Amino acid sequence: MRIAMIGTGYVGLVSGACFADFGHHVVCVDKDAGKIARLTAGDIPIYEPGLDDLVARNAAQSRLTFSTDLKAAVARAEAVFISVGTPSRRGDGHADLTYVYEAAREIAAALSHFTVVVTKSTVPVGTGDEVERIIKETRPDAQVAVVSNPEFLREGAAIRDFKHPDRIVVGSSDARAKEVMAEIYRPLYLNAAPIMYTERRTAELIKYAANAFLATKITFINEIADLAEKVGADVQEIARGIGLDNRIGSKFLHAGPGFGGSCFPKDTEALIKIGQDNAAPLRIVETVAAVNDQRKRAMARKVSAALGGQVRGRTIAILGLTFKPNTDDMRDAPSIPLITALQDMGAKVRAFDPVGMEQARGHLKDVTYCADAYACADKADALVIVTEWEQFRALDFARLKAAMAQPVLVDLRNIYDAADMARHGFKYSGVGRPEK
Ligand SMILES: NC(=O)c1ccc[n+]([C@@H]2O[C@H](COP(=O)([O-])OP(=O)(O)OC[C@H]3O[C@@H](n4cnc5c(N)ncnc54)[C@H](O)[C@@H]3O)[C@@H](O)[C@H]2O)c1
Repeated sequence: MRIAMIGTGYVGLVSGACFADFGHHVVCVDKDAGKIARLTAGDIPIYEPGLDDLVARNAAQSRLTFSTDLKAAVARAEAVFISVGTPSRRGDGHADLTYVYEAAREIAAALSHFTVVVTKSTVPVGTGDEVERIIKETRPDAQVAVVSNPEFLREGAAIRDFKHPDRIVVGSSDARAKEVMAEIYRPLYLNAAPIMYTERRTAELIKYAANAFLATKITFINEIADLAEKVGADVQEIARGIGLDNRIGSKFLHAGPGFGGSCFPKDTEALIKIGQDNAAPLRIVETVAAVNDQRKRAMARKVSAALGGQVRGRTIAILGLTFKPNTDDMRDAPSIPLITALQDMGAKVRAFDPVGMEQARGHLKDVTYCADAYACADKADALVIVTEWEQFRALDFARLKAAMAQPVLVDLRNIYDAADMARHGFKYSGVGRPEK
């Protein structure tokens, strides 16, 4: 199968490389010429475990190529995937579909035979209809089927998620398109990943409903954590106690600084707008977004409390900047509002992240970036774990204590135990757990 992937970001690059690994011929297209030049030279522009090997292997076998020439890639393709960004629109929180519609227009102009145009980007209900309308308007003679195929991969585990999905959702009522999609994903459902066919609008809504549900789970346990702190209960035991119930499940029940990242914040916002526009307001999701928004800055008050309310002039060391481990993605990372709030309180901020510091520079001002966790802790009044990178799970606390001005640890991911930390001589605060 010949595939053109329009948009070579976190989703387009991973999906393109995985499709090539299934044996398809894939051209990954991007309008960012710098990105395409780097990829062509074998340099991966994002951090995603295993992606460099996967890209190198498939590029070496000429199944995966990179280009800025959308026209040539589309003209030869049997399926064209749109995987461009759909960020929050400035001002109103609706999904910004400018890139999707622009891609649709460019694709339309390049079509040369029956082609399946697949929206992989996360898009509001009805976007497939509009993509189809744009294509027909631009090229009334075009032979196309427009399909929705939302992507559920998680950054940091993207290749595994793509190759072992819980399900593949294909929204289309066109028989030929379904055949093409079945052929593309055949290697996966031979491994028993269920392929689920729905109407296009249903597929579009499945993606938003999934993300909103997961965001709700996180926000629920975060509020339970706040209550646990007040009443002297332990949220981790509560999460285990409810998560062992199969009807609830243990995933997405880790209390922390609030959800961030490139998807949950913008997708909950977009779903809220879709609900309002359709006179079916989603009150639960509206509350989730509002609660989560307030939580991130509230984490700065937790740091302040750990320092007895004295933050002005203090030095705070931040471990972990990216929105989760194993990615360099800083989009909507909880570290950003936390650090800005600490700076607003008059703190000096030092930070270390294993891979995210280059990206962080574009989001944060007046931060001293450090070479490792120990350099970061130098003369700090408090150490705050914001992202649970593997290398922060076994820190040398004697070394940290010797480096710091005061042994104060704020663990926003609950990776350490309060009693252990007391033994190391640290004043410890976690999330939703009694202080010891
Ligand atoms: N990042 C994730 O974990 C994830 C997971 C599931 C779904 N999604 C969804 O997938 C979509 C893409 O997300 P992403 O994180 O990969 O975005 P991204 O910003 O990393 O990448 C988008 C790419 O598209 C390119 N682009 C934009 N317009 C183009 C055009 N007309 N022609 C060619 N290239 C163009 C941009 O230059 C950019 O490189 C979004 O809708 C997102 O919500 C993302």
